[in-house]
Amino acid sequence: MIPRETIDEIRARCDIEEVIGQYVTLKRAGSNFSGLCPFHSEKTPSFTVFPASNSFYCFGCGAGGDAITFVRRAENLDYVEAVELLAKRVGVTIPQDSRGERTRNGMTRQRVYDMNLAAAKFFRSCLFDPAIGGEGMRYLSEERGLSGAVIKRFGLGFAPNSFGVLQRHMNSLGYSDGELIEGFLCGKSQKTGKAYDYFRNRVIFPIIDTAGNVIAFGGRVMDDSKPKYLNSSDTPGFKKSRNLFALNYAKNHCAEQMILCEGYMDVIALHAAGVENAVATLGTAITQEQARLLAKYTKKVIISYDSDGAGQNAAARAMRLLGEVGLEVRVLQMSGAKDPDEYIKKFGVERFRKLLRDSRTGFEFRLNAILARHDLSDGSEKLRACAEICDMIAGVWSGVEREVYIAAAAEKLGLGIEGITSDVNRIRAGKLREYRKKEASEAQASLRNYGDRVNPDSARNLRASAAEETILGLLLIYDEYRALIARGEIGLAAEDFCTEFGRRVFSEIMALQRSEGGYLFELLGQTLSPEEMGRLARLEQKRRMLTENGPAVLQTSIETLRQSVRQEEEKQSSAADFFARKREEMRGGQGKGPGGA
Ligand code: UTP
Ligand code: MN
Repeated sequence: MIPRETIDEIRARCDIEEVIGQYVTLKRAGSNFSGLCPFHSEKTPSFTVFPASNSFYCFGCGAGGDAITFVRRAENLDYVEAVELLAKRVGVTIPQDSRGERTRNGMTRQRVYDMNLAAAKFFRSCLFDPAIGGEGMRYLSEERGLSGAVIKRFGLGFAPNSFGVLQRHMNSLGYSDGELIEGFLCGKSQKTGKAYDYFRNRVIFPIIDTAGNVIAFGGRVMDDSKPKYLNSSDTPGFKKSRNLFALNYAKNHCAEQMILCEGYMDVIALHAAGVENAVATLGTAITQEQARLLAKYTKKVIISYDSDGAGQNAAARAMRLLGEVGLEVRVLQMSGAKDPDEYIKKFGVERFRKLLRDSRTGFEFRLNAILARHDLSDGSEKLRACAEICDMIAGVWSGVEREVYIAAAAEKLGLGIEGITSDVNRIRAGKLREYRKKEASEAQASLRNYGDRVNPDSARNLRASAAEETILGLLLIYDEYRALIARGEIGLAAEDFCTEFGRRVFSEIMALQRSEGGYLFELLGQTLSPEEMGRLARLEQKRRMLTENGPAVLQTSIETLRQSVRQEEEKQSSAADFFARKREEMRGGQGKGPGGA
């Protein structure tokens, strides 16, 4: 079985348009991409990729799903093989035996923690010994400006420039070479098979979990050599995708909001300046698990990534992941410095706090990105910017939110609210028309239900199965609805559904919702076929096209579903009654009295 974190990591690292773009020539169409469907032959593109929902759907043949489903179909692979292929492409290693609590060597989690703690103490004593760690101390205090108190608070250390001092020290404490290798404190020589110290001549950053265990280390060079950081790989006690640097401290200061940085040094600089609600990922892109972890502690996250292009792209992606778990997300915009560490050194922490206050919502961030791409003094450029912005706003389903965004866009563009509103409405109407047209052609010859191979039961009760599709579509999109059902605040059970397909999909969605890692569309592919995933992609896109997706729609659909299932049952049973009476009459006609069978 593929560990959940691997799926999270793949999702975080690859954009669906990149994956599909390797097979299909995609053209940008508003916020989506379109191209010729690789799964059936066509001359005009009905194949669409939706980056916002990480999915694709072909209005021509009904193929659809997530990136993994795409690879399953395109390469004719099963789920696990498709994940392995994607993992390889984006450089994610799938851990072997990741479910066991023990390592291959039989180390328990606690043994790994104990070993790491002993190593952290050793690294620290090296840093504070001028004969050994003088250079490390000079680097941290002079070059990076850290006080002794901050160095101690973060438990920083120094790994001497030697292949064996840590190993010998740890051996003397009873840790075997095998254990040191297992815990990534030592590497294993390919030639001799012997253990050697993994971290050498580096300053050491211990990674500590919220329970206070030392779970891993990062080691930084003290000059410009490469690689800048070495990090421990995942071990039984430590999953990079499940932890955040400095969360052990930040968790006590983040009731209002949390600051998410890219680098260890950014976080340390912020804490040192008294901003103690900062955390960083551990050298990987943020994962959904980390997003959920943040959501456990706070409501609002301010992404404070590097100001370069790479950092801003990573910020856009983080914004999506954090938004998906229901966090309010803002993006901090910084100029004159490459990262928060440098910014605070140059301009001071008060200026940084002002940046925090001025941080922008996701919408403003995207709005500014569009504005920055166009020269507004040029008339036609301005029109193009306006069109892009209207398209973006048209994709928002909440009317209130749209109004707020329209007002903001009008101000930025120096245009009237009415003009923008009518453009947005025109785009929305167009999208809906286009969608209806596509759906109509799809439904041709009532193919939609009769002869539906994915959901053969749907033809038996069209009204109920339409309600069922609405419900599933809503559950695929909205975390809050799944949560309400999981908590029993909205009563809905698998038995309520009228088709076998609906019951199965609902059960899978809710099982994931209740699982430790939470729901993820990509994980449905573990039990559903690519054709079934395609159906779900259709239901999801349909809901996204429609204006109203509020709680009332969900409630009404649940009632409609129950009612039409009941009516159908009554019809069936009254038909059964009718025939029973007929039979009875016929028997009666044969002149037999009651009791005669
Ligand atoms: P940065 O290069 O921004 O590092 O990478 P930084 O922490 O700001 O370090 P300074 O200020 O240059 O000293 C951000 C993060 O990416 C990971 C580390 O977790 C780092 O903190 N990283 C970076 C690596 O894992 N390996 C590398 O070679 C570089
Ligand atoms: Mn930095």
